[in-house]
Amino acid sequence: MIAHNIKDIDLAKKGKLRIEWAAQEMPVLKSIAERFKREKPLKGCRISACLHVTTETAVLMETLKAGGAETFLCASNPLSTQDDVASSLVRFSKIPVFAIKGEDRKTYYKHIANTLSINPQITMDDGADLVSTLHKDKRIEGVLGGTEETTTGVIRLRAMAEKGLLRYPIIAVNDAYTKYLFDNRYGTGQSSIDGILRATNRLIAGSNFIVSGYGWCGKGIAMRAKGMGARVIVTEVNPVRALEATMDGFEVLPIREASRIGDIFVTATGDINVISGECFSLMKDGAILCNAGHFDVEISIDALEKMAKSKRVIRDSVVEYTLRNNKKIYLLAEGRLINLSAAEGHPSGVMDMSFANQALCVEYIIKNYKRLEKKVYSVPERIDKEIARLKLKAMGINIDVLTREQTDYLHSWEMGT
Ligand code: ADE
Repeated sequence: MIAHNIKDIDLAKKGKLRIEWAAQEMPVLKSIAERFKREKPLKGCRISACLHVTTETAVLMETLKAGGAETFLCASNPLSTQDDVASSLVRFSKIPVFAIKGEDRKTYYKHIANTLSINPQITMDDGADLVSTLHKDKRIEGVLGGTEETTTGVIRLRAMAEKGLLRYPIIAVNDAYTKYLFDNRYGTGQSSIDGILRATNRLIAGSNFIVSGYGWCGKGIAMRAKGMGARVIVTEVNPVRALEATMDGFEVLPIREASRIGDIFVTATGDINVISGECFSLMKDGAILCNAGHFDVEISIDALEKMAKSKRVIRDSVVEYTLRNNKKIYLLAEGRLINLSAAEGHPSGVMDMSFANQALCVEYIIKNYKRLEKKVYSVPERIDKEIARLKLKAMGINIDVLTREQTDYLHSWEMGT
């Protein structure tokens, strides 16, 4: 059933210990798991999950199991699977996992099909591959609803809903404050730098560091690169975001101009061909390219392949392309998500909130599916606020509450002195 070698007990043991390590940093999910264990709100619910198979995802899977769910899991990216985690989930948690790091495209989709063979009532997606496969195969019967983890997935699902094609309700976990403000910004910021460092061991200080896209992920990457002493240059197409980047203290340039001066390039736009063939020909010898967006489409790898006279793997996650003019360009992690391919993804401390949203939204769908339409919904404000409250509590941080007088003032229209 599972692609990799579950007989390798040492691999499974290694995964188990790493999952324990992650769980220590996930107190919100822990408190949800404790309640789920008592109340069993997900009893008998079949869940197909397509997520990056990491230690944090393992903690989420165990939380869903504690709530009484039966879950099948596959990977949401061919390079992000942590094989020790998959092995541990299968061996020690008895949760079927269909994922192996480095799986090819065909295997990736076969694993999605395996995961859907449970005939899910709930789908849990990261990038919308699960939902789109279900819709293409017309196997929607019995599905009550789903959740979506990431910006790219939410964009795809909104496009389906706008065209009237979405056949069941989805909750956009990505759009919760306790998700994107933390996971997209601090999570992607830290883990993308982590991936670049693990892959290259290059000095960030003093480098010209180009960030394409100034959404929440781009903001996080730019902020952290600046903190490490890089000269950060942002490229954008949205005038408001470009203005924001300028006033945050970054230089903003068109990608063509940035291409001439960049030492390290990171894409985080969600769109295709952001760094194109034209850019490669303008780049300095030794430029390093990577992507932090969901799909491997942001850097035109086909163009790079065509422009190169040779290529070689120079170290793990680093391919050196030699162009016909003898300039060298380094592509990290095949242009796939740098943070999950070359490092371990976002730290557990932020995934705690993202995955608390996932767990509570599954519970919400089970309780409310009868009155939900075939639309993309926001995470209920009550859930978002509760997660923030629990996280603050776990961090030992107290905050003030409004006095009666202050509440009344905010609800009156006769303001002023
Ligand atoms: N997405 C980004 N980081 C992740 C992680 N650590 N686990 C699961 N999904 C992720």
